[in-house]
Amino acid sequence: MEPIVLVGMMGAGKTTIGKALAARHGLSFVDADEALEARTGVPIPLIFELEGEAGFRDREARLLDELLAKEDLVIATGGGAVTRAENRLRFKRRGVVVYLEAPLEVLWERLQYDRTRPLLQVPDPKARLQALLAERDPWYREVADLIVPTRDGRLSAVVQTLEEAL
Ligand code: S3P
Repeated sequence: MEPIVLVGMMGAGKTTIGKALAARHGLSFVDADEALEARTGVPIPLIFELEGEAGFRDREARLLDELLAKEDLVIATGGGAVTRAENRLRFKRRGVVVYLEAPLEVLWERLQYDRTRPLLQVPDPKARLQALLAERDPWYREVADLIVPTRDGRLSAVVQTLEEAL
């Protein structure tokens, strides 16, 4: 089976939902950010600091290329993976791509105290989040085979909606 690829903003629940989905179906689970940290031996914010966002995106694109070639896997991608056209093309070619959709207020509630997302370490992180969502939402829709709202769903409800649709 082709990989199930979860896309969506940071805070949308890709990792939590991906883990639950994989466990219920005996699939492997990979979080792309965790895999990059394991591979480089350093946390994501330090990769951004040392190599800039472009360096991070290069590493992310190479990793996604490898992961998409696998079978029977659920992949939680980083929220910014769709910003690269090469990744969008990869997502369209392979994988069942699921957009976990959440509105700004829900994302902000989950992320406001977060210090692990380098893109939100700015004077007005909520405005940044809003701008990123506006820019990326069309890309998530473009690559998605399936769109699942996560706004008020409990985890089990979201996983169930996904299972019914897959
Ligand atoms: C990013 C999202 C993060 C991580 C990095 C950049 C983004 O992943 O890849 O901080 O550009 O939105 P999550 O979506 O898992 O938080």
